[in-house]
Amino acid sequence: MKTLKYLFDRNLAWAASIKEKDPEFFSRLSKQQAPEYLWIGCSDSRVPANQIVNLQPGEVFVHRNIANVVVHTDLNCLSVIQFAVEVLKVKHIIICGHYGCGGIKAALEDHEHGLIDNWLRHVKDVIRFNAEKFKGLKHDEKLNLLCELNVKEQVTNICNTTIVQNAWKQGRELSVHGWVYNIENGILKDLDTCITSRDG
Ligand code: CO
Repeated sequence: MKTLKYLFDRNLAWAASIKEKDPEFFSRLSKQQAPEYLWIGCSDSRVPANQIVNLQPGEVFVHRNIANVVVHTDLNCLSVIQFAVEVLKVKHIIICGHYGCGGIKAALEDHEHGLIDNWLRHVKDVIRFNAEKFKGLKHDEKLNLLCELNVKEQVTNICNTTIVQNAWKQGRELSVHGWVYNIENGILKDLDTCITSRDG
């Protein structure tokens, strides 16, 4: 017996609706993917990369983890970045955080959550690096600020990877962007941290 049958039903309906509009869609896509964008975002179910920027399958390469963190020793994330930059030759890397992020909230508070507290140490580091900026703010303001500062920190981390550094040394066209998504209204905000070369 097929479990989650309703999801398979939905899948058939979805594939049929795409083929109705574009009969060659899947056969074309099966031959190659050529996305221009690498999206690194939060695993939160409310922040799905393709839908937010209204892109079709094949148009964005995606990596997601809790609180959209890029850690220098995370082979998973680094492998995604390497493949995207060196093989797919994406032109843009977007790091997208979101307001109302549970990971950011957990990092700002002092409760224990188990294993994930170790992952969220990276976000706690962002608080430590920017301690002055949090002084005198209300809790909600701190949450929103941390969402933004975390994105900026991860933009820096991406730029510092050997992968991105080497792409720039080779004169490749590659931009790193920092964005925050608002789950309350569906709108993206550009943090104006776009970096396009080793000079910033
Ligand atoms: Co989140």
